[in-house]
Amino acid sequence: MYAAPPARSPSRFTWGVSTSSYQIEGAANEDGRGLSIWDTYCRLPGKIANGDTGDIACDHYHRYHEDVALMGELGVNAYRFSVAWPRVLPSGRGAVNEAGLAFYDRLIDALVAAGIEPWLCLYHWDLPQALQDLGGWANRDCAQWFADYADLIARRYGDRVKRYATINEPCVFTLFGYCLGGQAPAISDRAMLLRAIHHVNLGHGAAVDRLRALVAGASLGAIHNCQPCRPATEKPEDRAAAETLDAYWNGAFPDPQLRGSYPPALADAMAPYQKPDDLALIRRPVDWFGLNHYSAHYVVASDRNPLGLWFGPAPAGVPRSSMGWPIEPAAFGEILTTMYARYGLPIYVLENGTAYADKPQPDGAVPDEPRISYLQAYTAAMFDAIEAGVDVRGYFVWSLLDNFEWGSGYSQRFGLVYVDYPTRRRLPKASFRWFGQLIKTRPALPVPTA
Ligand code: FCB
Repeated sequence: MYAAPPARSPSRFTWGVSTSSYQIEGAANEDGRGLSIWDTYCRLPGKIANGDTGDIACDHYHRYHEDVALMGELGVNAYRFSVAWPRVLPSGRGAVNEAGLAFYDRLIDALVAAGIEPWLCLYHWDLPQALQDLGGWANRDCAQWFADYADLIARRYGDRVKRYATINEPCVFTLFGYCLGGQAPAISDRAMLLRAIHHVNLGHGAAVDRLRALVAGASLGAIHNCQPCRPATEKPEDRAAAETLDAYWNGAFPDPQLRGSYPPALADAMAPYQKPDDLALIRRPVDWFGLNHYSAHYVVASDRNPLGLWFGPAPAGVPRSSMGWPIEPAAFGEILTTMYARYGLPIYVLENGTAYADKPQPDGAVPDEPRISYLQAYTAAMFDAIEAGVDVRGYFVWSLLDNFEWGSGYSQRFGLVYVDYPTRRRLPKASFRWFGQLIKTRPALPVPTA
């Protein structure tokens, strides 16, 4: 039993699942959707495993009803999805695509009818190619284009959607997309990375202002991928590399957004891209801290990219997922504690989960014991953190469905529901039943009523 600490009283904990537009929707060429940077990236030879693309993906665009029904069966009370910017604004700005907006109307209405709260993320790496052609996030104007897009979304859905996340995992898409490689838009340049970091932060602040002004009762936050960054060895150069990665990964976005400054290790590098009032425009009041966590990083010094670092092996004996990511539930507890101590905001875990090489049996059952063990261990670490006083108010599994896992294409399966890609048939895995049971049987968690 998890007794409520004195200052809190039990109320509803948010249990959810997360997805993102490019990874599940498909319908890439339908109803006026514009090109995304991922449509372009997927066509670069050798970038995506097996030459996969998001053209059809899980065909969620046509099967969203089935997917909402699955969520109802699972028993979640929230669903986090992202809007595809190029679906609603095919050129990123200017002309609006009514058919694209209507899709999210249908999805939101279906969720509300099922009693599932929509959590709308504005940006999950799905930038209109037309904006990339103008420099993308490396162009300071991108912050304004993003704010205008947020405005459109707030006006259209603000009557039914109150939970908004601005940007998902800015550290991941700026680091890999603009410097380290492996993500769209495939740029490898430290100055472009620094620019992109600053403009994403400006875009976040501007979008928060629009959402706050336009949506009565809005509950707002950003989503940060937070992973402890540890040196892979005791060598001084690996220790320095781990500190550098920590500044980019865990500090470059939450620090300016929530404390009004860049981490000391980045302050000088960021200075040339800032105008005098920028930090005040970035640090806008938000309601919660969205936290995604998968595994710790073990960092080594390396000359393979302009940051001089790379990802080394986890210590011997640490188990790994099919992605090769270390499985260490203690790292989850550690990061929850660190981020709560550092920023003091209520935390929603908006992604946690694992890939595993699932295989359906002839009767359609999909046994996935390793995923169940992972979720069991990670939720236990979260419950311990809550008991120790960390204010965690929700937990969302990544992901509802197997989906397009970026550079790994469809080769990695993260879903609670198996997707048979040739037919797009959905088969709930054993972990789907397990998570449904957890939601049902978990005693009320201590969540502040305010
Ligand atoms: C996160 C991404 C998400 C998914 C998971 C496995 O970094 O936000 O889209 O790819 O990893």
